[in-house]
Amino acid sequence: MTANPGITGKTKLCGLMGDPVEHSLSPAMHNAAFRALDLDYAYLPFQVHSGDLPAALQGMRALNIRGLNVTIPHKVDVIGLLDELDLLAEQIGAVNVVLNSSGRLTGYNTDAQGFLSMLAGHDIEPQGKNIVVLGAGGAARAICFALASRGATLTILNRTPARAKACAEDISMAFSMKVNVLKLNRKNMAHALPGAGMLVNATSVGMLPATDVSPVDSDLLGPHLTVVDIVYNPYQSKLLKEAAEAGAGTVSGLEMLIWQGALAFEIWTGRQPPLDVMRKAAVAALQKCHCEEPFLTCLCEEPFLTCLCEEPFLTCLCEERSDEAISGNNATYEN
Ligand code: ATR
Repeated sequence: MTANPGITGKTKLCGLMGDPVEHSLSPAMHNAAFRALDLDYAYLPFQVHSGDLPAALQGMRALNIRGLNVTIPHKVDVIGLLDELDLLAEQIGAVNVVLNSSGRLTGYNTDAQGFLSMLAGHDIEPQGKNIVVLGAGGAARAICFALASRGATLTILNRTPARAKACAEDISMAFSMKVNVLKLNRKNMAHALPGAGMLVNATSVGMLPATDVSPVDSDLLGPHLTVVDIVYNPYQSKLLKEAAEAGAGTVSGLEMLIWQGALAFEIWTGRQPPLDVMRKAAVAALQKCHCEEPFLTCLCEEPFLTCLCEEPFLTCLCEERSDEAISGNNATYEN
């Protein structure tokens, strides 16, 4: 690695568009990857409210922003605002990556592959499993598509049943399979979970700052389940804690975040993503951001994107750490 040149007149900008974005680990992950490969790129979070989505996409063109990640709640709505869709994103009906080539915006989906790579890392094979998916937003669509492509049987539960029905219809059509749809409530979960081998939370319930809620009552969890939560901040959500206590296998969504980010990095830069660098940066940021302090603060007090010192530049100034949360799960990370 050569010296970080900081921001230059040629720096290309990438970022994250969502609401909320404060909890995101993507800036840590991508800026570390750009630095590791000595690429003149920078990554920033942009909080974009739903009504501002068209203006944000116009802004991406006007400011020549090279790439954006798209997160809650825009993954589905962004589709109508793009010039082109990659085939997989079109089939899934959700976009989590946008590439700007000379003002032409193309949408991609790397969530589906990210989810499968995460399962593969845990030696989990979806083939033939009955899987309950909670949620029917963009992330849930990618996950359902990925699981259906691997031969799983699906039941989708969502707070808004019409969205679950639309998602199920698209999956049924693409894979000629029946998909069960239920409203997300205790009665339906009590009906669906005993026959399931895996439960995936693809809603945002449990995500920072509302960490004391779970989408599932703990008495419905048991050792017959592997519980996957796409919520990665906190690393071990209330759902995962209660699943572990009930004897279920647990998988945090952090690896999905890392894999989808690595694939996005490749789309924007054309370079092989430094996966280990991205993983370390995400884990480090997660360990240090469980407080109210802004966590994009370098300890040397330089503006964080131009910091030349050796300090980790995504370091919260508070003393609080969450090492325990990181080590309490069955995932392993290189350090
Ligand atoms: P993304 O595209 O990132 O998945 P999204 O489209 O906003 O984001 O989807 C969020 C998912 O979390 C949806 O399934 C949403 O349910 P609705 O379709 O009914 O909106 C679900 N969700 C968010 N907050 C929820 C809550 N408090 N209780 C239950 N489900 C919730």
